[in-house]
Amino acid sequence: MSTPDAAKSGTFKIGGDLAVHRLGFGAMRVVGKGIWGDPEDRDEALRTLKRVPELGINLIDTADSYGPEVSERLIREALYPYKGIVIATKGGLLRPGPDTWIPCGNPDYLRQQVFISLRRLGVERIDLWQLHRVDPKVPREEQFEAIAAMQKEGLIRHVGLSEVGVDDITAAQKHFKAASVQNLYNLTNRASEPVLVHCEANGIGFIPWFPLASGNLAKAGSPLDAIAHRHQASPSQIALAWLLKRSPVMLPIPGTGKVKHLEENVAAVDIQLSDEEFAELSALA
Ligand SMILES: NC(=O)c1ccc[n+]([C@@H]2O[C@H](COP(=O)([O-])OP(=O)(O)OC[C@H]3O[C@@H](n4cnc5c(N)ncnc54)[C@H](OP(=O)(O)O)[C@@H]3O)[C@@H](O)[C@H]2O)c1
Repeated sequence: MSTPDAAKSGTFKIGGDLAVHRLGFGAMRVVGKGIWGDPEDRDEALRTLKRVPELGINLIDTADSYGPEVSERLIREALYPYKGIVIATKGGLLRPGPDTWIPCGNPDYLRQQVFISLRRLGVERIDLWQLHRVDPKVPREEQFEAIAAMQKEGLIRHVGLSEVGVDDITAAQKHFKAASVQNLYNLTNRASEPVLVHCEANGIGFIPWFPLASGNLAKAGSPLDAIAHRHQASPSQIALAWLLKRSPVMLPIPGTGKVKHLEENVAAVDIQLSDEEFAELSALA
């Protein structure tokens, strides 16, 4: 089998000027269980990260809270000085324990976390920094103002949002240009469809998290099997091929801590779904 190449997924320009291949990598799974602490197999996690650029991926999604700290640290250990790879990180969630995530949009906290990510990643500016959650306890304008100030200072190149509605995006655009939106979205959960449509209309990158429904779409025995069989592909590849065909602003970031799964996911770029297959899959939601 030839080496899959994420470049075949096409290119999207984040913020209009930061070109990435559309199929990226999610680095939330290179840490421990509950997205807490070190990964069970640290060597395999590092091998996976090192394999990412070899497969043509140049967009890696992470967050200060993955581990916390662990994902950003491993990315630096494996890939510094990054050579053209966009490291998109996030801030705005507290991690008091495994599987626990608490929004914290205090402007001082957001600023602190940006400085810590800069230092941990070893960069002078973060290419894409995403507000992990809009904190409902803090006026959203205060959060957006703090982010706009950091962008003006040159700490952040482009700003992204996560788990937002169209109304949040419109409110944020008064403070900065929202370059990307990262919302839960996959073949079987399309609650964020209106947000995707808004992103398409406005040239905003849409980064679907849980693109494989947290692994459920990678399992055999689902309605994806028949089409997967026809393409001699795995169900995960079909789920990713569907996302890539869904929209030119779609930037899927499937997550894994395993080289084998990473390679399998990238090979989805070689699958061309027919319009009939796309419609058949779309009806599964
Ligand atoms: N903005 C947010 O609030 C938010 C929330 C969640 C996630 N994210 C981001 O989105 C990324 C993607 O989400 P995700 O990683 O949670 O979910 P996902 O990509 O839908 O699925 C990942 C899960 O599927 C498994 N998997 C991946 N490829 C596979 C394959 N080819 N065959 C079988 N199993 C496979 C992985 O296990 P193995 O490790 O065993 O392969 C992992 O458990 C994350 O990495 C993170 O960067 C963002």
